[in-house]
Amino acid sequence: MKIIIAEDYDELSVRAASFIIDTVKRKPDATLGLATGTTPLGLYQLLIQDHNRNGTSYKQVRCVNLDEYKGLSSTHNQSYAYFMRKNLFEHLDIDLNNAYIENGMAEDGQAECERYDKLLERFPRDLQLLGLGSNGHIAFNEPNTPFDSTTHIVDLTESTIKDNSRLFANIAEVPKQAYTMGLKSIMQARKILMLASGANKADAVYKMVKCKTGENLPASILQRHKDCTLIIDKEAAGGLINQ
Ligand code: F6R
Repeated sequence: MKIIIAEDYDELSVRAASFIIDTVKRKPDATLGLATGTTPLGLYQLLIQDHNRNGTSYKQVRCVNLDEYKGLSSTHNQSYAYFMRKNLFEHLDIDLNNAYIENGMAEDGQAECERYDKLLERFPRDLQLLGLGSNGHIAFNEPNTPFDSTTHIVDLTESTIKDNSRLFANIAEVPKQAYTMGLKSIMQARKILMLASGANKADAVYKMVKCKTGENLPASILQRHKDCTLIIDKEAAGGLINQ
């Protein structure tokens, strides 16, 4: 795992943006695995800025997202589909038909997972972007998710519901289940770029990098990936720096 420690969140975002822009410039029809959450927002702003200023084009790019709340439609303002459109896709020249995400409203949950797995097979990811949960989750793969998992429905843990409730009117509105790409599927990406910012991630970052790989900390699986880069700011690196 290659680790880059940025001075602060702004530098983290700049470095992450160059990583993605380089990927798209080298391969204009790249498939990008994308994440939602607070961490990539700065990076997405910079991708938009670069697209406007330098014309980097996403016309041929495909995007596949990690996860979606079960029970929210793509027009719900807390759905991840909505988040991606508002914070990134609407500001780029990407063809929205090439931007995929699980269907939170699918009637048959199992069939939806199978559909998404087939899609991931059809479009191998050149780069997978990840954020890190304070409990070590990646996508919605909570602690003790099997390492060989593919797309599945998860019951969200109390800690994740609490972390995510800041974006909802109140905690009762946070869905209790979600669709998520599995850990095996995440590991199939050619390159992985993991971002973590802030002191509340320091413990998970430390365990992900230093502790023995184990299903109790989903992100530790990344130690086994051949081409994984971790960009963290100094606060998230606290545990590594002060050890
Ligand atoms: C989002 C996702 C989550 C987040 C993680 C960190 O698609 O898969 O695993 O990456 O919860 O979230 P933030 O960036 O909000 O701290």
